[in-house]
Amino acid sequence: MFYLKYRPKTIEELDNIKVKEVIKKILSSGSFPHAFLFIGQKGTGKTSTARIFAKAVNCLKNKNSEPCNSCKNCLSIDTFSSPDVIELDAASNRGIEDVRNLIKESSFYPMANKYRVYIIDEAHMITNDAFNALLKTLEEPPESVIFILATTNQEKIPKTIHSRCLLVNFGTAKRTEILSMLKKIVKKEKINIDDQLLSLIAKHSDHSFRDATKILEELVTQKKLKFEEGRQFLGLLHENFFAALQKKELKGILSWLEEFTQAGGNTKNLIEQLLEELHIALLTKSGVKTEDETNISLEIKDIIILMKLLTEAYNNLKISPIESLPLEIAIVEYYNRNK
Ligand SMILES: Nc1ncnc2c1ncn2[C@@H]1O[C@H](COP(=O)(O)OP(=O)(O)OP(=O)(O)O)[C@@H](O)[C@H]1O
Ligand SMILES: [Mg+2]
Ligand SMILES: [Zn+2]
Repeated sequence: MFYLKYRPKTIEELDNIKVKEVIKKILSSGSFPHAFLFIGQKGTGKTSTARIFAKAVNCLKNKNSEPCNSCKNCLSIDTFSSPDVIELDAASNRGIEDVRNLIKESSFYPMANKYRVYIIDEAHMITNDAFNALLKTLEEPPESVIFILATTNQEKIPKTIHSRCLLVNFGTAKRTEILSMLKKIVKKEKINIDDQLLSLIAKHSDHSFRDATKILEELVTQKKLKFEEGRQFLGLLHENFFAALQKKELKGILSWLEEFTQAGGNTKNLIEQLLEELHIALLTKSGVKTEDETNISLEIKDIIILMKLLTEAYNNLKISPIESLPLEIAIVEYYNRNK
């Protein structure tokens, strides 16, 4: 599976540029804190980076703070057989007893490495009591211990824990970063896929590296490597909608919508996709977003009119006797204004 095969193994391989810089600095500074909090959306590289970090601090041939990935320590960490790098899923080890055990265990010296590293995933699942028990250890961790707490849910981490950790913010993966990751995979796998389709994947992967690799793999398995067939396979309805809309032909777009509803399409879902796309176009065209490209060629004033009409249609969905009606009205109104 691509997302496992191409999990980054060195800092250099991380496509998340900001994180890459931060981790490089931390490692090259020589003295770093022993408690970290990795925060970011799913599939942005928290676990991968934590493992790279664990290897980097324990690598026997460590050059430029990068793990060598070939020494005994690196290999055992990569194969999960290291006695000193412990990955815990807080979703199933969340109670006070689990944390007490962990604290006790962390007071022993590492067996084969310089540091014992605890990677605690889904850290927001830890119970309050357990967090409290962990406070003191996080504040003054034993010298040979490093804690890396990772979470998608920053709000659920108590402030007291927050303030004792060095925060690394993974945020969300940028389209350009996802695209650069996809291009690397495609090159290594010698896949002949349209560039335009790669951009489309990057755009629709929910800002997650993992989602993007999964979509790519699906398209490869299904042999949908041309832009048009890939787009259809992914069911990116709004792309078709905007293509029809920009032809400035009312009949065309209403027939498209008719076909869509006949085929059992969900109008609510469609309007949500449309609004999201228009939102990105608005921010891009007003210069707020620069990294996200948009295929929408409408002017800002038209984007705003459409957004207003679509929001109204969305609100009317609940009270409409015919599901597609509010959207149809919005489209007709849009065309009438733009005549
Ligand atoms: N910075 C990155 N550069 C390139 N690929 C990445 C990067 N981060 C993640 N990936 C890809 O995404 C996959 C998932 O990454 P990872 O498990 O590290 O994310 P995560 O943030 O821990 O996600 P979750 O919150 O769901 O646990 C990796 O196996 C890899 O294929
Ligand atoms: Mg993870
Ligand atoms: Zn090594």
